[in-house]
Amino acid sequence: MAESMKGWKRSHRCTELSPADVGSEVTVMGWVQKQRNKGGIIFVDLRDRSGILQIIFEESDCGAENFAKAEKMRSEYVIAVVGKVEKRSGAVNENLKTGEIEIRAKETRILSESDTPPFPVETDSRTKEEIRLKYRYLDLRRPDLQQKMMLRSKIVSEMRSFMASQGFLEIETPILCKSTPEGARDYLVPSRVHPGNFYALPQSPQLYKQLLMCSGYDRYFQIAKCFRDEDLRADRQPEFTQADMELSFVDVDDVIEVNEKLIQHVCREAIGLEVSLPLPRMTWKEAMERFGSDKPDTRFAMELVNVSDTVKDCGFGVFTSALENGGSVRGLNVKGQAAMPRKKIDALVDFTKGYGAKGLAYLSIQEDGSYKSSFSKFMTPEELDALVSAMQGEKGDLLLFAADKNTIVYSVLGALRVELGKQLGLIDESKFNFLWIVEFPLLEWSDEENRFMAMHHPFTMPMEEDWQYIDSDPGRVRAKAYDIVLNGVELGGGSVRIHQNDIQEKMFEVLGFTKEKAWEQFGFLLNAFKYGVPPHAGLAYGLDRFVMLLVGTDNIREVIAFPKIKDASCLMTQAPGTVDDKQLEELHIAVTEVEKREEE
Ligand code: AMO
Ligand code: AMP
Repeated sequence: MAESMKGWKRSHRCTELSPADVGSEVTVMGWVQKQRNKGGIIFVDLRDRSGILQIIFEESDCGAENFAKAEKMRSEYVIAVVGKVEKRSGAVNENLKTGEIEIRAKETRILSESDTPPFPVETDSRTKEEIRLKYRYLDLRRPDLQQKMMLRSKIVSEMRSFMASQGFLEIETPILCKSTPEGARDYLVPSRVHPGNFYALPQSPQLYKQLLMCSGYDRYFQIAKCFRDEDLRADRQPEFTQADMELSFVDVDDVIEVNEKLIQHVCREAIGLEVSLPLPRMTWKEAMERFGSDKPDTRFAMELVNVSDTVKDCGFGVFTSALENGGSVRGLNVKGQAAMPRKKIDALVDFTKGYGAKGLAYLSIQEDGSYKSSFSKFMTPEELDALVSAMQGEKGDLLLFAADKNTIVYSVLGALRVELGKQLGLIDESKFNFLWIVEFPLLEWSDEENRFMAMHHPFTMPMEEDWQYIDSDPGRVRAKAYDIVLNGVELGGGSVRIHQNDIQEKMFEVLGFTKEKAWEQFGFLLNAFKYGVPPHAGLAYGLDRFVMLLVGTDNIREVIAFPKIKDASCLMTQAPGTVDDKQLEELHIAVTEVEKREEE
């Protein structure tokens, strides 16, 4: 029954036709959005990735055979129509780009039929995401998803053309690699030829792009697939795409400058957004103190206030003991929320526990000026007044406090601030607040590992003026590292790299690598550096996140054609799956976990 293309050629996409084409004969092809049979006349809405076009079948125009085909057409049938463009006989449809015209069919073919789809193919279909992902090929037909995929393509092509115009070379780097140092867990690929050996899928092209700098390709760019086996969140996928770059003979400002122009170009060309330059910059320290986050959402205020000095001698043990242990007490002034019900406050307390809070102290300022507070019995009225004044509290305000070591206070209040911003509708969704975060700490203490870890990666250059503290106070050393943040999301990050042997060796020592271990893991890079290495620096964007923010969604799966779900599986293909014993044997792999589970 399905007919072929034989002799027919599509002349236009649906919405490439306009009143200017009235009178001409065209051939259009696509999917049936809807068929309406009004007796002697059949209307078909034809859909392709450009949009929708109305076709009108009348037996007097197309003959009995074609009319019979039109009668059979159902949603999602793939059809071809030869016909004449006409002004609409009925009312103009203002909602359609092609609302003023229709095609009077002369001849038609049914290219393939369709079962009834499990959900309607239409914008904002309220189908559960699991069902949509299982039938992703149908989901991807939905006009809103198609818009997103087309915008993604546009963003990538604008990036490519801009980078080429700036002298960047696009060079591919391997997918079968040695383990790379971005700090997440690797995905491993067993080697058949080398029993017991594994490739790692790249967490980023980091080492290769540095090697390309050694090889003299002074400006490199790549749209690169990256793989990280880590816990997934709304803006994380196990495989994702970076727009990755590296430059030679540059310092921080050079990288920032070229990237600001890239951002401006992409925003202008892809979504018509004018971004004015230079973009604001904030040090990591300032970001943490004001927003409790290294990726602050600056679309709303409600900044953290450090009240440690105000409460240091007060009678509230929770506060004073946090200070005695080297921590701090900080608060948020939630304007006008003094009447927030107890239940809602309790929910916020629970929310902060997810970020390590032991509790959240609160004080609300009533309309008569009195206070309601979880800790007022521990403080004198004077101490309470001082605290309220330090918070610039006014009648009607709700003050929330966290007391703990700094890292916890920041993560708790940083997350709480964003949550309240969302809940209370404080965020101006029309804004695009780009922000550079600079001067990150070089190292980050890990309680788990009981040692310093590289905050970015082990090849990140320390700031010259801080290097003197590397032995006495390693935590104080800042790095030539930077992140680009958009509306509270980390869009990308990068750094100037170490190109001096002595600094790199010291860095490995601080990170607890033995010389042997460092050479075993990164020997090829360290060797390359022995043969003339230019100073170099780079940056990588999470491309999926960039697209996500430009199209205005907070779900990264909406901008990836075939995404994975939270447990890193694919609902459509059922990946990952088991493999034949023979395949395992060839790879010298014995799977113990399954046997164990079967035994249990
Ligand atoms: P980094 O690890 O910061 O730097 O990664 C760069 C950017 O990639 C995005 N990203 C992710 N996107 C989706 N899912 C994930 N699981 C995921 N992980 C990271 C983020 C992040 O900012 N080689 C360095 C860059 C450099 O130094 O040049 C690197 O990979 O948007
Ligand atoms: P308690 O005396 O334990 O009932 O605590 C009094 C108030 O202090 C309660 O509202 C607790 O939620 C709050 N609280 C406990 N620990 C902390 C903390 N680390 N930071 C801020 N508030 C806390």
